[in-house]
Amino acid sequence: MFLLVACAKKQDSQQVSQDAAAAQTETSPTASGFKETHRPQFHFSPAKMWMNDPNGMVYHKGEYHLFYQHYPDSTVWGPMHWGHAVSKDMIHWEHLPIALYPDSLGWIFSGSAVVDVNNTSGLGSKENPPMVAIFTYHSDPKAKRKDFQTQGMAYSTDNGRTWTKYKENPVLPNPGIADFRDPKVSWHEASKQWVMILAVADHVELYGSKNLKNWSKLSEFGKTHGAHGGVWECPDLFPLPIDGKQKWVLLLSINPGGIHGGSATQYFIGNFDGKKFTSDNPPKTTLWLDYGKDNYAGVTWSNIPAADGRRLFLGWMSNWQYANQVPTSPWRSAMTLPRELSLRKTGAGLRVVSQPVKELASIRGESKEIPGQTIEGRVTISEGVAFTVATSEVQLEFDSIRQGQDVGIELSNEQGQRVLIGYNAVKKFLCRPHAIRQK
Ligand code: FRU
Repeated sequence: MFLLVACAKKQDSQQVSQDAAAAQTETSPTASGFKETHRPQFHFSPAKMWMNDPNGMVYHKGEYHLFYQHYPDSTVWGPMHWGHAVSKDMIHWEHLPIALYPDSLGWIFSGSAVVDVNNTSGLGSKENPPMVAIFTYHSDPKAKRKDFQTQGMAYSTDNGRTWTKYKENPVLPNPGIADFRDPKVSWHEASKQWVMILAVADHVELYGSKNLKNWSKLSEFGKTHGAHGGVWECPDLFPLPIDGKQKWVLLLSINPGGIHGGSATQYFIGNFDGKKFTSDNPPKTTLWLDYGKDNYAGVTWSNIPAADGRRLFLGWMSNWQYANQVPTSPWRSAMTLPRELSLRKTGAGLRVVSQPVKELASIRGESKEIPGQTIEGRVTISEGVAFTVATSEVQLEFDSIRQGQDVGIELSNEQGQRVLIGYNAVKKFLCRPHAIRQK
């Protein structure tokens, strides 16, 4: 066995905090400088108060923009705003003022943003293309009407620093369906139109537009496909290459009804012809993006330059089962690490795989190698392991595993808290802790 432990560079993990802390003086000062108990040092978290889904992720002029579902007056979910942060590497974030506030049409639920490069909307100019955000307005559901979710639009011509709501909102009215939300918009070059994918109760609907303002329905997908244990939310639709060809991936979050309870994200692989998405998988197959409980409402960044070409993903690292109770203060929730998505051929067919983005390697600091040894049962490794687990990366290598045995690593602290990560070498799967504990 071989164990390599890499600790984060000291100044880099501080850098994360300092960037955040400096920006907080403007909008939300906290005394601790991002050093509170349980404050993630690499995962994005809001300076203070409530956060859920990532929204409007778009790359523009050297900056990755991240907007997010935010309630600035409490650490539990409430009237939704779009919080905002920018980064040059998806690791060090600068917190910016709230981008979108609720208005007379409703709270600002999840949605996406694009750079309208050809100024099809006329909201900017060819020289200074507008950034356009398309989101769900959520108005009062108590009014006993079903049409309280509509799609609205806002735009920015100063690199996302200030936003103006489009004066003819909503751009897509509600046809009388209570769950009608979370638009993800992208440019489809082959059909020369904007395509919006929208979560509608138990399926998704696709809409097309030439100018981001007028939308017409193209098709529906999903009533008979995948998991249906809860409402469908936060879809995304994008191409990924495999063997010199292109397949289309449809991401879809579902709550409840996730693989391990509560919220989770499933996906479909198939084709999109500019009108209709068709899945290659039999209707009853369900593919999950993650088997853990804390990756929800994730979608991918828009406008990543062709020269980069990656499909970059970020999810909300929580679950509606307990999101409102997680014991942190003065903020609640964090995002997953940014990941690169790709397709891989497996014995069972094509699958979406995710890898942490390569930028994360830049914050590796000192590393320590623990010499190989034969393990029978359990071995405690503590000598020479003077590192802070929370800001370290651990690489484990097992070079021969006895037939039928699971292996794993347990991380524990002085308070007796333990996390066990197991691996089943036959199935090539991370396995559940009890599978090891029983041995
Ligand atoms: C997903 C979700 C979205 C909605 C938003 C509201 O977690 O329920 O469907 O737009 O959160 O905050």
